[in-house]
Amino acid sequence: KVVAVIMVGGPTKGTRFRPLSFAIPKPLIPLAGQPMVHHPISACKRIPNLAQIYLIGFYDEREFALYVSSISNELKLPVRYLKEDKPHGSAGGLYYFRDIIMEDSPSHIFLLNCDVCCSFPLASMLEAHVKYGGMGTMLVIKVSAELASEFGELVADPTTNELLHYTEKPETFVSDLINCGVYIFTPDIFSAIQDVSTNREGRANLRRVSSFEALQYATRSIPPDFVRLDQDILSPLAGKKQLYTYETNDFWEQIKTPGISLKCSELYLAQYRHTSPHLLSSGDGTRSATIVGDVYIHPSAKVHPSAKIGPNASISANVRVGAGARLINCIILDDVEIKENAVVINSIVGWKSSIGRWSRAQASSAEGDYNKKLGITILGEAVTVEDEVVVVNSIVLPNKTLNVSVQEEIIL
Ligand code: GDD
Repeated sequence: KVVAVIMVGGPTKGTRFRPLSFAIPKPLIPLAGQPMVHHPISACKRIPNLAQIYLIGFYDEREFALYVSSISNELKLPVRYLKEDKPHGSAGGLYYFRDIIMEDSPSHIFLLNCDVCCSFPLASMLEAHVKYGGMGTMLVIKVSAELASEFGELVADPTTNELLHYTEKPETFVSDLINCGVYIFTPDIFSAIQDVSTNREGRANLRRVSSFEALQYATRSIPPDFVRLDQDILSPLAGKKQLYTYETNDFWEQIKTPGISLKCSELYLAQYRHTSPHLLSSGDGTRSATIVGDVYIHPSAKVHPSAKIGPNASISANVRVGAGARLINCIILDDVEIKENAVVINSIVGWKSSIGRWSRAQASSAEGDYNKKLGITILGEAVTVEDEVVVVNSIVLPNKTLNVSVQEEIIL
């Protein structure tokens, strides 16, 4: 049997996703019409002999309860949320729930970061991992040298694929091959994590010999049960014939900013063409709107036949789009109203917001601006843009009403 664990983090993380993460945890923000965490979960469906999926985080349990029960029903597979009492780090969190994770006596454990967007080639990773015969195999990808320093950089043996060297977010360039945050391990990973904590406790006891050093330990060191997968496990175990790499040539992005989530929405919509074409709007029929490129429209949304939607638009439940409206490169969340002849481009429109007649929410975002703070326009929950108002490259916090046009502003 195999189990999958998805690390979802907690409310102290995901602050860059404000104002959207005020309303719901970052892992539940929709990309291509489905919560961010839905994409790795549905990829897990393709793992042979999968017994359980666990989401581990330190968000309040209630925030995930509804989603976890609906996705369990949909997949006919148990999905459980396990709440840490405090952050234990990406490996420490896994270790904290080792007894529950081992209940089904799995031979393999997948570990996925929830904030990555990729094709999750999990079945092929499992095959490669079994062939390598190590304790763990990680998904890796080549990126440009400038981008690499934002991630874990690594060196792998070109013939055996063994992980030879690993450095987390190095200051000087090591390699353009990076860690994708998708792993498969044998249960031996638990002893490796335990060794890190035991060593740390040992060092702490030694240091207590001198009270000055003990004070330093207390103020500076990391608690023994806080274990980071990258620095504490991958770096020291590189080159010891225990860890291997599996390179993907598909798409991969890390979802740290709302701007990137527009790009990820686009990538997942494109993937639907192969995996779930029924989720894409065809625009067939005389009573439906004009659809351009890849577009997701929730069945409960009402889109006027004279509206033009796409490419890359995701329209969630109960959205109303009026006559003559134009939507390009955007995510429209539940219960939004886009009135007649309004335009939304390069923007995310929060739940229950409304965009007035002849108004615009837009950003002059070219590819590559996505990471800039005001690279896209974001309207928080329940924002009202009155008629004939233009909002450009701006972030608007929840419950605001805009009756004048704004550009490159953060409206608090
Ligand atoms: N449950 C739980 N508890 N989850 C956590 C905790 C924790 O204490 N700390 C982090 N996470 C989750 C995050 O939500 C995220 O999904 C994942 O673990 C990794 O987060 P970080 O440890 O903050 O690392 P990062 O995202 O900056 O970078 C990691 O992932 C990159 C790929 O996306 C590193 O492993 C990089 O090397 C890698 O390139």
